[in-house]
Amino acid sequence: MKIIKTCYYKFFCNKIVNKNLFEREKYSDRNVLELIIIPYVLGNFNPKKILDIGREDYEKFYNEFFSGRELWTIDIDPKRKKYGSPGRHIIDDAANVKNHFKTNYFDFILINGVLGWGLNQDEKIEKAFEGIYDIIKEKGLLVLGWNDFDDAKHRKPHEIKALKKFTPYFFKPLKGTEFECVNGHHKYNFYIK
Ligand SMILES: C[S@@+](CC[C@H](N)C(=O)[O-])C[C@H]1O[C@@H](n2cnc3c(N)ncnc32)[C@H](O)[C@@H]1O
Repeated sequence: MKIIKTCYYKFFCNKIVNKNLFEREKYSDRNVLELIIIPYVLGNFNPKKILDIGREDYEKFYNEFFSGRELWTIDIDPKRKKYGSPGRHIIDDAANVKNHFKTNYFDFILINGVLGWGLNQDEKIEKAFEGIYDIIKEKGLLVLGWNDFDDAKHRKPHEIKALKKFTPYFFKPLKGTEFECVNGHHKYNFYIK
């Protein structure tokens, strides 16, 4: 049943991406997120409550992936509000995420391209992931996308204390708990609460 659902969502997400973007390599970072991770999450986790942290203009159409579900977005930059979830967007630092939601609220949290792209200080990084741990449900899924640059000054996932509370999750379609894309040293790490 889950396989059928995943196939359905692969088709569903493909349609949305093709309508919005150009062709890309299968294992390029955006493709991995939009055509492998999100369809699998929709098909296998069927998340009802979703939080997407950090929203750029090229992600406005992500709202369509989660139509009919309770999608929240949060971004520190007020100018990004227009790319967020209509009526469910918060302008704040991810470090304060806990202030906005109840404990054990979300089924799925995505934080892609924020660690090292604004969320840089140790204290704020720890606070953000502590907050994320608090507001995600038991068995909820966290997907962390980040760039593993050698000269990065920020903490990497294995150095973040708050992430140790999670259990690394074996993400079947990418055959591991961490996946490195073909571009940008971009990695996705998967965790379950
Ligand atoms: C490089 S962009 C990439 C984000 C996007 N999710 C992606 O997949 O490419 C970083 C985004 O994160 C936001 N951001 C940076 N630091 C943040 C923080 N501490 N809390 C919340 N949002 C932050 C920025 O305003 C920007 O919209």
